Amino acid sequence: MVIAIFANNTKNFIIREFTSEDLDTVIWINRTVLPENYPSFFFKMHHERYPKAFLVAVINDKIVGYVMCRVEKGRLYIKKDEEGLLGHVISLAVINEVRRQGIGKSLMINAMNNLYKYYNVDEYYLEVRISNNPAIALYKKLGFQIIKTIKGYYLDGEDAYVMARTAPYLETEDN
Ligand SMILES: CC(C)(COP(=O)(O)OP(=O)(O)OC[C@H]1O[C@@H](n2cnc3c(N)ncnc32)[C@H](O)[C@@H]1OP(=O)(O)O)[C@@H](O)C(=O)NCCC(=O)NCCS
Repeated sequence: MVIAIFANNTKNFIIREFTSEDLDTVIWINRTVLPENYPSFFFKMHHERYPKAFLVAVINDKIVGYVMCRVEKGRLYIKKDEEGLLGHVISLAVINEVRRQGIGKSLMINAMNNLYKYYNVDEYYLEVRISNNPAIALYKKLGFQIIKTIKGYYLDGEDAYVMARTAPYLETEDN
């Protein structure tokens, strides 16, 4: 299902839900772009459980990016004293050739919208390498704040920031 169509001054792209035919390409993008790689069952499992929160970006029938999320029950990060549902962004990637065209942002906004609409989440959160300035800038632009640092979170020993924000993401916040 196509969720959104974007036309900007460089390229047109669409955001749609992931389908199982996309699996090989998504795994390829994940391995090309990110050091955190997962076996195919991990992608399939998230698609089965949270199909509305696993989206791809497409240009001329070619997948150029994806976002994969899940929903967790637990202590909220912003409303610290409350329990609730958290939309956890597990993996986000856009291929190098088409970066800085708003694709990562659109994937995130559409995933956040669907996490709220279909799974009723109270907050969104994610982990990000403390050196990953492009991603941190994107998440800050989307209203995420740094909640804490997890020492040695990644396999190579790098620390992670946990970043979170409340749901929903409002259209009026888009800038
Ligand atoms: C992070 C990533 C998904 C961003 O994708 P993208 O499509 O290039 O991002 P967008 O074009 O939507 O950027 C939106 C905003 O984020 C910020 N941003 C994105 N890339 C940035 C960069 N390299 N430097 C500074 N700010 C950046 C900017 O505020 C940008 O808005 P602007 O272009 O109007 O200034 C992409 O760089 C990527 O795939 N990186 C490797 C994988 C990764 O790090 N994933 C996240 C793991 S937590």
